Amino acid sequence: MTEKDFIPQENLNYPKKGKVAYKAPSNIALVKYWGKKENQIPANPSVSFTLDACATRTTLTYHQKEDKSDFCFDLFFEGKPKEDFKPKIETFLKRIERYLPYLREYHFTIETSNSFPHSSGIASSASGMAALALCLLEIEKEATVNQDSDFFDKKASFLARLGSGSACRSIKGNLVQWGEHEGLENSTDLFGVNYPNKVNDVFKSFHDTILLVHKGQKTVSSTVGHNLMNGHPYAASRFVHAHTNLAALEAVFANGDLNQFINIVESEALTLHAMMMSSTPYFILMMPNTLNIINAIWTYRKNTQIPVCFTLDAGANVHVLYPESYSKEVMAFIKTELVQYCENGHYICDKVGNGAKKIELK
Ligand code: PMV
Repeated sequence: MTEKDFIPQENLNYPKKGKVAYKAPSNIALVKYWGKKENQIPANPSVSFTLDACATRTTLTYHQKEDKSDFCFDLFFEGKPKEDFKPKIETFLKRIERYLPYLREYHFTIETSNSFPHSSGIASSASGMAALALCLLEIEKEATVNQDSDFFDKKASFLARLGSGSACRSIKGNLVQWGEHEGLENSTDLFGVNYPNKVNDVFKSFHDTILLVHKGQKTVSSTVGHNLMNGHPYAASRFVHAHTNLAALEAVFANGDLNQFINIVESEALTLHAMMMSSTPYFILMMPNTLNIINAIWTYRKNTQIPVCFTLDAGANVHVLYPESYSKEVMAFIKTELVQYCENGHYICDKVGNGAKKIELK
C-alpha cells in the first residue's frame, strides 16, 4: 500500500450531520520509536503492547456549514473549553486533509476526556490522536457503502500517525508493530499492524503498572527529542540496534522466554534515554526516583527470580511489566517498596488490551 491508497477516489455523499464516539487506549513500546523522517515516517520500526485502562474517550458532533474556507471546531477537554489544545488539532487537521477532503465542510464539536488523571505525565497524545482519527474517519465510513473494516483500521492508524507517531499503535490490540522490518510480513512505515507472527499466551495478559514518579509537564517534548536524532552521533547504530532487538523479540514472542524478554525490553528503555543524554543539546528525563525504582526492581528480581521488568517512555514515570501469573506477588512488592517513590503515592494499574472501540450512543 502507499499513502495514495488513503485518498478517497470518488465524490462521496457525505452525511449532513452526525455524532460519533470512540474510546482509544494508550500503548507502551517495547522496541522504541525515537527519531523520524519527514511526514512522521519512523527512523526505525517499533512494537508495543496496547494498553487497556489508560484511554481517551472522544465524542465528535458534526454538521455541514456554509463557509468552507477554513477549519472550524470547538474543543472541550473534560467538559471545559480547551483553547491551548487547539493549535495541535489544527495542525493535525491540515496534515490529514489530503486523506479526508471533507474536513473544511463541517463544524466539529470535539469533546474528549482521559481515563487517567490530567497531567499524570502519561502521554495522552497517542490515545487522543487515535480516538480523534477514528471519529473523523467515521464520516467517510458513513458515506461509503460496505467499507472494509481492515481498510478502516489501517486508514485510522495511518491518520493517527500523522497526529502523533506512536498513536498509530493505538488502534489495534494487543501487540502492534509499526515500521518496515525485513522478514515481518506486511510491516510498513505507514501504519501500525497487529504483530503478525506467533505470540505466546503469556504476553496476551501482561500487566503494566505505571508508577507516576513525576506528574508535571516534561521539560523536553518528544517532538524536540525526535528531531535531536538528526545528526546524532549514535543515530545510525541505534536504528540498526532497534532492528536487531525487534528480530530477537520475534523469537521471544513465540517461545515466551521471559529472561530474554527482560533483557531486550530494559535495554530498549535505557537506550532511549541514552540517546537523550547524548543528544546536542543533551537532556535527562529520568529523575532520582526513576533510578530508585529501577534498582529496587533489579534487587527484587535477583532475590525472588520473579520475571518482572521495567520500561520507560519519554519521561520519568516507570512502567512495571510482569506476567499475570505473578500479579499478586508483584503488586505486593509495588505497594511495599515502590509506591514510596511515586508522586503522592500514585500509580495506575493497567494491562494489555484489545484496541480502540466505537462507543454506541443513545
Ligand atoms: O509519538 P511520539 O512522537 O510522542 O513519540 C513517542 C516516543 C516514545 O514514546 C518515547 C517511544 C514509543 O515508541 O512510543
